[in-house]
Amino acid sequence: MVKSKKRVLVTGGAGFVGSSLALYCKRDHPEWEVLALDNLSREGSVLNLERLRQGGVGFQHGDVRNPEDLASLGAVDILIECSAEPSVHAGYGGDPRYLVNTNLVGAINCLEHLRITGGQLIFISTSRVYPIAALRALPLQTLGKRFVLGGNGGVGRGWSAEGITEDFPLEGARSLYGATKLSAELLIAEYSAMYDIPAVINRCGVLTGPWQMGKVDQGFVALWMARHVYQGALSYMGFGGDGHQVRDILHVADLYELIALQISDATLYQGQVFNVGGGSELSLSLAELTDFCQQRCGTHLTIGKDLETRAADIPYFVTDATRIKTLTGWQPGIALGEILDDMHRWIVENKNELAPVFRA
Ligand SMILES: NC(=O)c1ccc[n+]([C@@H]2O[C@H](COP(=O)([O-])OP(=O)(O)OC[C@H]3O[C@@H](n4cnc5c(N)ncnc54)[C@H](O)[C@@H]3O)[C@@H](O)[C@H]2O)c1
Repeated sequence: MVKSKKRVLVTGGAGFVGSSLALYCKRDHPEWEVLALDNLSREGSVLNLERLRQGGVGFQHGDVRNPEDLASLGAVDILIECSAEPSVHAGYGGDPRYLVNTNLVGAINCLEHLRITGGQLIFISTSRVYPIAALRALPLQTLGKRFVLGGNGGVGRGWSAEGITEDFPLEGARSLYGATKLSAELLIAEYSAMYDIPAVINRCGVLTGPWQMGKVDQGFVALWMARHVYQGALSYMGFGGDGHQVRDILHVADLYELIALQISDATLYQGQVFNVGGGSELSLSLAELTDFCQQRCGTHLTIGKDLETRAADIPYFVTDATRIKTLTGWQPGIALGEILDDMHRWIVENKNELAPVFRA
């Protein structure tokens, strides 16, 4: 069978998700040309350049806010949009223009590029499109070291004990991060319908894996593990300060498995929106994460208690990904313990190189 040669552009391709997806694509399709575009604004993203080079992924320094930077790369068959200011806390108490221009205008520039040249769009959206107040209003109980949702079989519109579905109500504020992503989603749906762009939207919960340059406001699994390795300071922030808040996590390699399916049959997914995440089996609270990190590192940190709940914080998000699982048969394959082992191994093996990013 003759393999078709494709051109793939990954915007934000030196970031954690972008570099991982670009490298997996090139690994599985050595005959494809895979390009990463990034302005290297994320601290630590420069460390991914050597990985990209070794993996055969081309790198172009550029900015999604500038249409000409995209135009200079020419037509592509697939554009995976991973560039972003990815912190839900961005913009609070400060100037939001970088966030809006990157996340929304950048996404529009990607759409315009595809309208002109053709090609498929894979958009990495976020579970933070769901409104903060509605998520905070979910009925939670404390069980051991975590919050649990809807005890006694409780269900509501778009949620159940299995987590949050795509039908969760969208009314209400969600942070500018979430709003820029949701605005981009609306435009993607219109471009997809009007210009027949095969676009798919993946609303991802927490993603993690090696080469995630975690910091206090984004990438908490990497940050937590790194603080245990380097013996830095950590605090449980908000919701009583006990670390009971819960998220599901998904290894970026499992996200890639889904995206590979979406690439292989672009029209099946055109114009659709999916919640994508690890689900209840891959959920954990911060306090449970501390236990996992202690087991792996053999260290004990005293975790601080910060009672202030930040404006964008939510106590609970677990993805109900039934829609995408039913359509594709996709399932996360990497278990919670394996994800944490992988994070631990990566930080220990690259301890010197990563020290400038992670040492508090
Ligand atoms: N990591 C997660 O848990 C998670 C969860 C849901 C959605 N997402 C989304 O996945 C995507 C990737 O996130 P990530 O975790 O890899 O973050 P990241 O910060 O590691 O990667 C984003 C990359 O975009 C680059 N960038 C920022 N502004 C740019 C601009 N104007 N032009 C070009 N490049 C620019 C940064 O330098 C960085 O390398 C984002 O869209 C994010 O919103 C991430």
